[in-house]
Parts: sequence; C-alpha cells; structure tokens
Amino acid sequence: MKDVVIELKNFNSRYGKQEVLQNISLTFPHQTITAIIGPSGCGKTTLLRSINRSAELESGYSCTGDILLSGASMFNMNAYSVRRQVGMVFQTPVALPLSIRQNVLFAPRYYGLRQRALQDDLVENCLRKVALWEEVKDRLHKPASQLSGGQKQRLAIARVLAVKPRVLLLDEPCSSLDPASTERVEETIRGLAAELCIVIVTHNLAQARRLANETAFMLNGQLIETGPTENIFSSPKHEKTRDFVTGLFG
Ligand SMILES: Nc1ncnc2c1ncn2[C@@H]1O[C@H](COP(=O)(O)OP(=O)(O)OP(=O)(O)O)[C@@H](O)[C@H]1O
Ligand SMILES: [Mg+2]
Repeated sequence: MKDVVIELKNFNSRYGKQEVLQNISLTFPHQTITAIIGPSGCGKTTLLRSINRSAELESGYSCTGDILLSGASMFNMNAYSVRRQVGMVFQTPVALPLSIRQNVLFAPRYYGLRQRALQDDLVENCLRKVALWEEVKDRLHKPASQLSGGQKQRLAIARVLAVKPRVLLLDEPCSSLDPASTERVEETIRGLAAELCIVIVTHNLAQARRLANETAFMLNGQLIETGPTENIFSSPKHEKTRDFVTGLFG
C-alpha cells in the first residue's frame, strides 16, 4: 500500500447556505492517479479547490471536518504553503502573458530563485517532464501565447511542477483539447505519477478508465463509491455508480 498523501476526514463544505460537499472521507495515495467522476454540479471542482485551500478565497465558502496533508491537518498550516505543495491545473489552458521560460520560472522566481544556471536547469527539467522540451527548446524566449492549446496545458503543468509539489490536482485538463493533444497530456500525467500523488477530475469516462488507478464517484456532494478503477467500471457495488458508468445519467 502506497503512503497516503491527502486524507479527507468527514469533510463538509458549503457556499452560503448551500451544502456542496457532505461528509466526504477519502484518501489519495502517493504515486497513484485517482479519478473523480460524477455529474455536473456534484462538487468535483469544489473538492479539488478545498484540497489546495483555494476555495476559501471565495466569498461565502466555509468547511468543517479535516483534510490531512502527509498526516497533519492542512488547516494548521499556512495556506500559501499548502497551495505550493498541492498544485492545481485548470480546465482552460492558461499561459501567462510572458515567454515560455518565464512561465515556468514565474513561481520559483517569486520564491527567490535568482541564479541563472539553476533557472536554466529547472526550465529544462520541468519542460522535459511534460514532454514539451523538444518542441520549445529553440523558442524559450517567445511568448507562451503562441503555443497550441495542448502545449499550453502541458506548460501549465510544468509551471506547477516548478515549485516541486507533492500533489497535482487536474480539473478536466483535456476537455478543451483534441484527441492528439489529449493523448500527449495523458502520457505526461502517466509519467508524473512515478513521483506524485495525482487527482484528476474528468467527464471523459474512457479517460478515467485509461489513466486512473483509483476512481471515486460523486453524486450531489456525496462520495458514493471509491475503489480500483476496474472495479468501479466493471463491478460497481452501488446501483447509482452502475447507472452513471453505463451512461444512464450524467
Ligand atoms: N464560488 C461559488 N459560489 C457559490 N456557489 C458555488 C461556487 N462555486 C461552486 N458553487 C456551487 O457548488 C456546487 C458544486 O459546484 P462545482 O463547481 O464543485 O461542481 P462540479 O462537479 O465541478 O461541476 P462541473 O462538472 O460542471 O464542473 C454547484 O451547485 C455550484 O453552483
Ligand atoms: Mg467542475
């Protein structure tokens, strides 16, 4: 059994009076890709944003219960430190209006990385991890806005990796990409699982099945079922899970 990196314990959250997550208990292990699936509005993004403590920046958000990061409550930690250790990549590929190189170095510079040689190493290393190095090594100083959607998404992942997180949260990272770009991003995610705890929200059930070791199915803010991906898809325990994975609703 791999070490647990994130553990939610009886976690609840709400926006104003609306309950969004109800009594979620769930673990995310190291070197494991966990997919979160469930219909629109069931709370998947809120779950991810709770895990990196960015949801609490929204007005009206509140939560109870606990989330442990490597065994310690993340609510006793500095929120910035949590966000650094728990990186998040969003649905729409976002390139900062900077060069490709400066995109990767954005956060490390903020944290004080000044030495040119160390910066060069970090840029190459992060771009290699997302399989973008060969494609961009001759134009590192060009605006990142010139990249394709799939390249921008891999750059966004590289930007998060640059601060050496322990956890990578991906919120529908391929939903705006074509099949070829999706495949490259999936390859990247698979490679990163060797050193990270990865959580991916996806509406693409085939993608969850291809990519994830574990799958969690959510409905109306509740965790209905979680387990090895193959079990969730081929022998789910709950009727609701079976209905969802066979496409009866969603
Ligand atoms: N900033 C916010 N303020 C108020 N309510 C919010 C906010 N963000 C999300 N919600 C509400 O929380 C519920 C869950 O939303 P969330 O975005 O987590 O769903 P989701 O499962 O990610 O959906 P989708 O698959 O469409 O992305 C929804 O009812 C939504 O309206
Ligand atoms: Mg969402």
